[in-house]
Amino acid sequence: MERFAIRGHICYSEDKNKIRTTEHGYAVCENGKCLGVFEALPEEWKGIPCVDYGEKLIIPGLVDLHVHAPQYTFRGLGMDMELIDWLNTHTFPEEEKYQNTEYAQKAYSIFIDDLLHSSTTRACVFATCHKEATLWLMEKMEEAGLAGYVGKVNMDRNSPEGLCEKSTERSAKDTEEWLLASAGLSNVRPILTPRFIPTCSEELMERLSELQKKYRLPAQSHLSENLSEIEWVRELCPEATCYGDAYRLHGLFGGDCPTVMAHCVYSNAEEIQMMKEQGVFIAHCPESNANLASGIAPARKYLDQGLKMGLGTDVAAGTSLSMFRAMAAAIQCSKLRWRIQDESLAPLTVEEVFYLATKGGGEFFGKVGSLEPGYEFDAVVIDDGMLRHARKLSPKERLERLIYLAEDRQIQAKYIKGKQVLPI
Ligand code: GUN
Ligand code: FE
Repeated sequence: MERFAIRGHICYSEDKNKIRTTEHGYAVCENGKCLGVFEALPEEWKGIPCVDYGEKLIIPGLVDLHVHAPQYTFRGLGMDMELIDWLNTHTFPEEEKYQNTEYAQKAYSIFIDDLLHSSTTRACVFATCHKEATLWLMEKMEEAGLAGYVGKVNMDRNSPEGLCEKSTERSAKDTEEWLLASAGLSNVRPILTPRFIPTCSEELMERLSELQKKYRLPAQSHLSENLSEIEWVRELCPEATCYGDAYRLHGLFGGDCPTVMAHCVYSNAEEIQMMKEQGVFIAHCPESNANLASGIAPARKYLDQGLKMGLGTDVAAGTSLSMFRAMAAAIQCSKLRWRIQDESLAPLTVEEVFYLATKGGGEFFGKVGSLEPGYEFDAVVIDDGMLRHARKLSPKERLERLIYLAEDRQIQAKYIKGKQVLPI
């Protein structure tokens, strides 16, 4: 039995409208799980080891529901394009390079190091279609103490020669080999990753569906991100009633297959209903949607309709791994949408984006994203002392300010499943 506590000003989301704060509170961990947050350490645990972080803030680790590890190399570059041109010009040529495992190791080492030093404790990661490099990424993430899902990407059509998998059979076989090879990992788990409908043949989707049933895997992909993309899907898959239906037809859209779909900028009423019924998670990626001029997803509508949702950075269409930046972008984009596009959908609040970045996205991983009893103990300790201020701020105000002003160097300590991963 391993028990310990950490002490500081603790903030976590109770629900999407309420942030609970405890000044100089204790968060108690037992065998990787949180026993709760207390104003004083309960009598029975008086003797357990406790690290007192003084005036620092303690929050649940943040959850990135959508990020592309191989794209980290060109973050901040080549953004003056829309989705399909951006994929063909910048993304696919870069991802081709991961065929070379030496290059992949060099690039992934940097991604892992930066992810480790960020406030993110869980992530849903796209790798590339290369199984060796993907497996290496997973092993090194696990060694670093990180947790989450990583997917070997599948793509067998409408992709450049050097990146397109040689056949549907090859793609399916490589996927199964990768699944078996990753079976020994415990915190970084595999997730089925058909890139998106345009690059995946129907036969491939069927093969992935068989693997889903055989190994009971979750799935991740892209949905209704860009208008030209949606039009293309309509041409490629005329039997589908909407973009989401093209996944559903192959059993890869929620239900028995826990699924997270990035973007949903243009989901229509039918698609929204389908996501709700099937329990599909939405990864809202506002910075990416701005950079690729995709549009602004109606996150307020999804929240109000009770859909499952979290936030994603979508690096490299998003520039930064910072989930605080993603929270700020979610608020700012929702304000512009409200002002310019649809006054009926009010902007997102601080409480709502903090919920999305913790408990909302965390739900995809089980009991993750809170410091309530029973949740996995993922926590980040932040020293915002370098943000000088003449006023005294409450913990809630300090958290609010971090959404706009957080930097990785403020991170004092990080815990994942009760194990301290920072400082190294
Ligand atoms: N749709 C298909 N592939 C991608 C990708 O790599 N990034 C984004 N943003 N959308 C995609
Ligand atoms: Fe993406």
